[in-house]
Amino acid sequence: MPSIEQTLSELQGKNPRKVLRHALENYDKVAISFSGAEDVVLIDMALKIRKDIQVFSLDTGRLHKETYQFIEQVRKHYSINIELLTPDYSLLEPFVKEKGLFSFYNDGHKECCGIRKVEPLRRKLATVDAWITGQRKDQSVDTRQDLPEIQVDPAFSSETHKLIKFNPLVNQSSAQIWDYIEAYQVPFNALHQQGFISIGCEPCTRSVLPNQHERAGRWWWEDATKKECGLHISKDQS
Ligand code: ADX
Ligand code: SF4
Repeated sequence: MPSIEQTLSELQGKNPRKVLRHALENYDKVAISFSGAEDVVLIDMALKIRKDIQVFSLDTGRLHKETYQFIEQVRKHYSINIELLTPDYSLLEPFVKEKGLFSFYNDGHKECCGIRKVEPLRRKLATVDAWITGQRKDQSVDTRQDLPEIQVDPAFSSETHKLIKFNPLVNQSSAQIWDYIEAYQVPFNALHQQGFISIGCEPCTRSVLPNQHERAGRWWWEDATKKECGLHISKDQS
């Protein structure tokens, strides 16, 4: 197989389908991470390439009811299994016992995200060779401007397990994603009709005003440069 650098130069600037096709045709153990938001387009596109896709969502226990309903809707609409990954109770229970349910408003989201998102993700990623995310550059001017279409995962790879990360939507704009949803009648999360653009956990997401950046609705009490939860940061940022 060509090196990651060679593949990147082939895939750079290409449309999402080309990147997805490369991921789905070259990696058998590859999974799509679905947040229950407009990254549903990845599922729609992927099923046109390969029927037996693997999809997972991190069920933090704190998602909006609309997101849970949407995950179910997607599961039925496409007749696919969506694997729900739950936090390790042996970490979660002592954390909540000690700090309560809203500690992130006082001491930041890192610890809660670490238990509810990053640990389950780490467990899942240990079982695959590659994963596919819905990250886009236009989601954050502070943290996502250097995203490539393909990379060796900087946070979850190890010496014994090289994990490849694909970001097929990287150069898509929000408007292009919504054009796709409209054109192909893709189901979408009802929260998008209530002023939500970026969607994460319920206590850490709020709707935004017209012309406010979508990331302003996530962890709004924290600095814009810290608005990553550990899923997508490199080792040196963590
Ligand atoms: S986050 O890191 O700030 O939460 P964001 O909401 O922008 O991420 O989503 C970017 C991509 O990260 C999604 O398209 C998806 O691939 C992945 N992702 C985020 N949250 C989840 C989740 N709860 N379950 C699965 N994947 C997720
Ligand atoms: Fe916890 Fe908020 Fe992170 Fe969800 S987004 S895991 S509720 S800190």
